[in-house]
Amino acid sequence: MKTNTIQNLDGFSGTILIPVFETYTKSLVPIHFGELEISAKVFYGKKDTHYLVEKNDSTYIFIGIGKNTDYKSLKTIFRRIASQQKESFSSDVALVLPEEFKEDHLEAVISGMLLGTYNLGHYKKEKENHPFLNANFELKLVSNTDFEETVLKAIKIATAQLEILKLVDLPPNKVTPKYLSNWANEAGKKFGFNVEVLGFEASKKAGLGAFLSVGKGSENEPQFVIMNYVPENCNEKTKHIGLVGKGITFDTGGLNIKTSAMVQMKCDMAGGAAVLGAMQLIANLKLPVKVTGIVPCAENSVDAKSFLPSDVIESYSGHSIEIIDTDAEGRLVLADGLSYLIKNFQPEYIVDIATLTGSSIGTFGYECGALFTNNEMMSKKLQQSGDAIGERLWQLPLWDCYKQDIESDIADVKNYSGKPVAGAISAAKFLEYFTEEHTSWAHLDVAGVAFGDDEFAKSKHATAYGVHLLTKFIENL
Ligand code: BES
Ligand code: ZN
Ligand code: ZN
Repeated sequence: MKTNTIQNLDGFSGTILIPVFETYTKSLVPIHFGELEISAKVFYGKKDTHYLVEKNDSTYIFIGIGKNTDYKSLKTIFRRIASQQKESFSSDVALVLPEEFKEDHLEAVISGMLLGTYNLGHYKKEKENHPFLNANFELKLVSNTDFEETVLKAIKIATAQLEILKLVDLPPNKVTPKYLSNWANEAGKKFGFNVEVLGFEASKKAGLGAFLSVGKGSENEPQFVIMNYVPENCNEKTKHIGLVGKGITFDTGGLNIKTSAMVQMKCDMAGGAAVLGAMQLIANLKLPVKVTGIVPCAENSVDAKSFLPSDVIESYSGHSIEIIDTDAEGRLVLADGLSYLIKNFQPEYIVDIATLTGSSIGTFGYECGALFTNNEMMSKKLQQSGDAIGERLWQLPLWDCYKQDIESDIADVKNYSGKPVAGAISAAKFLEYFTEEHTSWAHLDVAGVAFGDDEFAKSKHATAYGVHLLTKFIENL
């Protein structure tokens, strides 16, 4: 997509998008736009409505955005317009900016519009084809203010999110651990970060025992992905953030095989994908921070070589783990991811993100991610960042009374309490055990928000939750 700014619509013909704040008054004053007059009886800017007029070779789409709008609403409204109205879009699009628009509004509008070009039909023989689908159009901003920087940023955000939507939506016979490590390598070359990948043998040599216990039952070789982004002019004052994402490309449950919802488990690498997308976006935005991203990628399969319930395994940290349930595999790969990050890179702040527990969905449904942290400042900044862009988080406790849930008789810890209560919390306590008492760690359980039902598809699909959130958090640090 190309963009530029123009002062007015003189000589323009194509698709003209006009966001309208709700202007409802008792007198039903019509909306005037050039020669057009729209009766308030048919359209007055109410949120989630739009009005389309064809005139003089142009299609005018008036888009209701309500009285006071927010980032998420704007993004959704423009994603909807782009995906539903794409047939009426030409390759010349003009966006008329209301005077009240700030940078954030525009970022939401542009990134939403680009997400509207996403097409889930990756394997359909007959591809839909019009300029909008490949973001192959020119966008003119009609405004007196120069928003170029905002537009470029919005494009970068949406580009990363589109990549991650696809990564999570593609099926697990395509998106194997190797596919993810290849993706990381490609993105590293393109956007400027370093990538190192440990395969099975290298992981074994390194001592990543918890990670390999999960991955060893699969035909698809596990891949431990380590990424490092170093900004220009990096010095001792540059902040260093560590990210760890769960990259389970499919979760059958292992020998404790899942009896429900297994079909959705291609989403179990969504936390890892969020870290991949954030690495791309952070490097693309050239943020002045150092970031280490770790994504342990593995498939949790059912096989003669699979790990067994009651196995005792040696993790990278040196602590032994008793396996109570092979379906609690995410915390195992994250444990090694966290220990590896801390031992080898010592970042000042650590955030891990994972589709970790059904329990977090039981608690919050599909409205927010569960946040656990030992650091008040991180809690505030993560929540503020999420609120600003509509990727919400809500905090749950890490009290030590929950520690008994992971105490094992035979090993240092066990991977599951065996109780049907407080599952998201005991999973977080398990991870905490592997953070080596780091004082700035946060864990995001995103099982309910990474893969969702919404108006944009018939079945559950990726949301790219976390890509923007992690980036925004790091920007706000
Ligand atoms: N990948 C699942 C969690 C999950 C559930 C993700 C629903 C997305 C949607 C995780 O590995 C898992 O199986 N968790 C179990 C843990 C239990 C066996 C201790 C769960 O939450 O039921
Ligand atoms: Zn599982
Ligand atoms: Zn899982």
